[in-house]
Amino acid sequence: MRVDLNVPMENGRITDLTRIDRVLSNIREISEKGGKVIILSHLGRPKDGPEAETSLKSVAVALEHELRHMVFFASDCVGPVAKSAVAALRNGDILLLENTRFHAGETKNDPAFVEQLAELGDLYVNDAFSTSHRAHASTEGIAHKLPAYAGRTMQRELEMLTGMLAHPERPMAAIVGGAKVSTKLELLGNLMRRVEFLFIGGGMANTFLSASGKNVGKSICETQLAETARKIIADADAANCQLVLPVDAIVSTRFEANAQTRAVDIDQIGENDMILDIGPRTISKVVGILAAARTVVWNGPLGAFETPPFEVGTVAIAKVAAELTRTHSLQTIAGGGDTIAALNMAHAFNDFTYVSTAGGAFLEWLEGKLLPGVEALRGQKANA
Ligand code: 3PG
Repeated sequence: MRVDLNVPMENGRITDLTRIDRVLSNIREISEKGGKVIILSHLGRPKDGPEAETSLKSVAVALEHELRHMVFFASDCVGPVAKSAVAALRNGDILLLENTRFHAGETKNDPAFVEQLAELGDLYVNDAFSTSHRAHASTEGIAHKLPAYAGRTMQRELEMLTGMLAHPERPMAAIVGGAKVSTKLELLGNLMRRVEFLFIGGGMANTFLSASGKNVGKSICETQLAETARKIIADADAANCQLVLPVDAIVSTRFEANAQTRAVDIDQIGENDMILDIGPRTISKVVGILAAARTVVWNGPLGAFETPPFEVGTVAIAKVAAELTRTHSLQTIAGGGDTIAALNMAHAFNDFTYVSTAGGAFLEWLEGKLLPGVEALRGQKANA
């Protein structure tokens, strides 16, 4: 069973258990039905083989704790160590294998490595949507070697993303934030053809503001993308998508916790100012969009939310979206690591209709791309 235990860590400690918690029920289900659950995952991006920082050993302890069920751990995911750990399993046992990325064959989707993984099991379950944008051995290759199935979390993720994005209740709005436009060009291009409103916040909004002739002072800004930004604005217009940019901002001359700030109109940004959050008039504007919409998709924070007080705009919008989800059945869908952290900060996570734990995979899905890990499962279905 491939899961995504690529959890955020700080000094060796797991800082967010969401990804672990999402896969518990499917692991339990297989174990309770008498299956021997052999779990595959990566952690981080190790470069030259095994390393202590990206070992899954401590994740095995967390998994065991969350599952309230013993989890065996093998210090290699293939070869004699993995084979003898698998051979020792009794029905219902759960075994986590060491980081698949400790072998170069994983990311290369090397057929010999795929073979080694596949010979450990009888069936393959992919419950890792969030890593299915990678055509790796444990996400793609192995699905062609064993009878392959989507896990429960993957199934729900696909149902929610397909249902809410392919057949949304309209009007539909997208909120896109984050630091850089360059990482979200395809996303914006695809979204503008699907949504009625597209609000752009966060650092990336500065590039659009600057391209529209506004002074953004010392704010982060990808000036080399001015032409691209102007084209996105024109394309959105042609697609009948209302592209909305901040009309005011919280600025400071210093980017540090509890810095002195001012709320200023977007025309009033000073030479030494940095735009670090959306301002109150922008918050009202986005609340208006949320109130008019029936479906909202959100990716990326709207300010430097990890440094107080620049979380205010992102948290306010998250709270309103959560409230409208509860009270007006607004359909809210969000994804991406920073977005999850922001929703947690606003205590809004549980109210959203669906929160994807995927980062890159969520973005690629929103960009309209096919995900190799998902496609490999579809191929199996067609062959069945
Ligand atoms: C993620 O955290 O988005 C997934 O686990 C994929 O990780 P990767 O970007 O290192 O492939």
